[in-house]
Amino acid sequence: MSDREVILILDFGSQYTQLIARRIREARVFSEILPYHTAWSEIEKRHPKGVILSGGPRSVFEADAPHPDRRIYDLPVPLLGICYGMQLLAYHFGGRVQPATEREYGKAQLEAVSEKGLFRSLPSSMQVWMSHGDRIEELPPGFHLAASTPNALGAMEDTDRDRYGLQFHPEVVHTPQGDRILENFVEICGCRRKWTPASFVEETVRQIRLQVGEEQALCGLSGGVDSTVAASLVERGIGDRLTCIFVDNGLLRKGEFDDVLTTTRERLDLNMVGVRAGDRFLRRLQGVDDPERKRKIIGEEFIRVFEAEAQKLGEVRFLVQGTLYPDVIESVSVRGPSAVIKSHHNVGGLPEKMDLELIEPLRELFKDEVRKVGQELNLAEEFIARQPFPGPGLAVRILGPVTKERVTLLQEADFIVDEEIRAAGLYDQIWQSFAVLLPVKSVGVMGDDRTYEDVIAVRAVYSVDGMTADWVPLPQEVLGRISNRIVNEVHGINRVVYDITSKPPGTIEWE
Ligand code: XMP
Repeated sequence: MSDREVILILDFGSQYTQLIARRIREARVFSEILPYHTAWSEIEKRHPKGVILSGGPRSVFEADAPHPDRRIYDLPVPLLGICYGMQLLAYHFGGRVQPATEREYGKAQLEAVSEKGLFRSLPSSMQVWMSHGDRIEELPPGFHLAASTPNALGAMEDTDRDRYGLQFHPEVVHTPQGDRILENFVEICGCRRKWTPASFVEETVRQIRLQVGEEQALCGLSGGVDSTVAASLVERGIGDRLTCIFVDNGLLRKGEFDDVLTTTRERLDLNMVGVRAGDRFLRRLQGVDDPERKRKIIGEEFIRVFEAEAQKLGEVRFLVQGTLYPDVIESVSVRGPSAVIKSHHNVGGLPEKMDLELIEPLRELFKDEVRKVGQELNLAEEFIARQPFPGPGLAVRILGPVTKERVTLLQEADFIVDEEIRAAGLYDQIWQSFAVLLPVKSVGVMGDDRTYEDVIAVRAVYSVDGMTADWVPLPQEVLGRISNRIVNEVHGINRVVYDITSKPPGTIEWE
């Protein structure tokens, strides 16, 4: 590996763990999230410059409370415990932690006592966001009070051993100075802060050259930002030994196959092959209504198509995919480490046996970071700004079994949503906007006739990385135009509803 600096974040199940990772990266240091129970050898081999213990919903007093490998506490690098992580530090180093009688939650005013360490160059009074149960009553030997709130010990520090604890959450926006506190931690770790899109491109291209050597690679391209950036990175590394395959799985948006083939051929310097395979996907999906089965079938079918194309090309050893970090993160969820919400087709949906080795150059990045890498690679805005589209395509937006007729129906409705969102100048502000075909019919009246037809749900969400999302309060006129046009122009739809669910508790896609 390179001499890249990394700060490790051990995840104890906080809903904010990914935010910590993002803030550290914004401070231009690579950060990696690992579950708290990660084997010591895995931690050691990463040579972290510092370790952060995240918050979590548990109490150190519970019999089966999550604890990391004890050797963490003796690592010769700075440690920062946030919330539950701070209680772990206090507990381990011999402080007195008081079980919670109730959880303290919300904004608080913090008074910093310390002017060094995490609070260097910060005002002495600042707003912070608290969300904690247990509290620290007595500091462990060697630690000093660094800050306090009216109700709690806000922060502790042992600057000799570089052990720090924060009772509040520096990673959330309700702690406005939080990014500076985390930057101070990164400085304490002695990081050079050189992790930028440019350094990522340079390092990744170097690694791809090493990994691929003189072999050939295939890339599954979808025209979306992830696979386009992944392909462009690999192309920089191995040139025309990369062949990109764009598969028409019969589940694309209206006209998308031809549009994407034309624009990528015109605008990108890539070897492009288009494969029409809609029939084989639809055949395998016949009668399947379970969302997870749909995803697995599509994931497997993609690989079979890639393998067939690889055979045509001769010796191909690698398959490039645009998998992102949120797809691979093994976060410790409150429901237990293995809770699977959806199998994303380019990760959980892969078949167990496949002939191609995977290259996933973006598997450490969040979506907005991928867009920055795309800009660094000078990709056209139309690739970078494109709304995400899921690998399993319209199959996860057709509730119930997928048929060719239902795909066409949804394509027509979806096309209208897309046109109207663009015409209203909203496309770039919205993370995703699309139509969903529901498995229910409802009664309507058109002219003098009774109708009994399908229902379309329209969905539009704001999001930064797809992990959480807010539904968009679309202007009434836009909703009105979308509804009118769908009912008038798409035969078979007589009702349009608007989805007003955020994520959580909903997900963005309906399946
Ligand atoms: P959910 O529905 O889980 O979606 O809230 C979060 C984001 O991921 C996209 N998505 C996928 N992307 N393969 C992909 O490449 C998939 O299998 C997949 N499933 C969901 C979804 O469109 C949203 O942006």
